Amino acid sequence: MSKTESGVICILGSPRREGNTDRLASEFLKGVESKGYHSRVIIPTELDISWCDGSNQCFRDGLCIIRDGMNEIYEEILEASHLVIATPVYFMGPPGSLKSFIDRFQAVWARTAILKTFDPDDELWRSKHKAFVIIAAASEKPNMIRPTRSILKAFLNIIGFTYAGELIATGLDRRGDVLIREDLLKKAYEAGSCFVGS
Ligand SMILES: Cc1cc2nc3c(=O)[nH]c(=O)nc-3n(C[C@H](O)[C@H](O)[C@H](O)COP(=O)(O)O)c2cc1C
Repeated sequence: MSKTESGVICILGSPRREGNTDRLASEFLKGVESKGYHSRVIIPTELDISWCDGSNQCFRDGLCIIRDGMNEIYEEILEASHLVIATPVYFMGPPGSLKSFIDRFQAVWARTAILKTFDPDDELWRSKHKAFVIIAAASEKPNMIRPTRSILKAFLNIIGFTYAGELIATGLDRRGDVLIREDLLKKAYEAGSCFVGS
């Protein structure tokens, strides 16, 4: 997807390919594409990225000093008009690979809170940056997904994306479980087509 094309960036947080999260994200993106939008999928486990080391060197200029696969990603995400984050629940939170990806956005937090060069609450900015969240979990208990949702909401707030909606898919454990959940696959497709129409 080139930067000039209208498109959706999907951050796929599951390390399990063709698992429940992957399938739901694919359906969502089919819905997106049905409206003529393109999509690009970013998979943190395939990026060769390190975790934030807490050096806070980004407080000087809002840039991360770690040179790795994240360097191109920051501006690509911030330039996206539509972002979807799809993740399974691992011990109540997102998988470590996705959490590391999120932590590296401390550099963007520094632009807001330390350097005051970026205002994620700017109304015009927010109107142009929308996000959708997909969460897959084995448990049916509503409190199981809350920490993951809170982490994703905080992340999206920091980077100035409006929380446009979510699909919470519970009761999914083994890799193919979602394939017999036509209701969830349909919801994912519809959510994707509505997301770009919003
Ligand atoms: C390391 C690990 C931790 C997990 N922790 C939870 C949990 O705390 N709550 C839950 O409901 N499911 C938990 N699960 C189950 C996954 O959320 C579930 O299998 C999900 O459907 C996996 O999505 P995927 O197929 O996209 O990987 C865990 C799975 C793994 C591998």
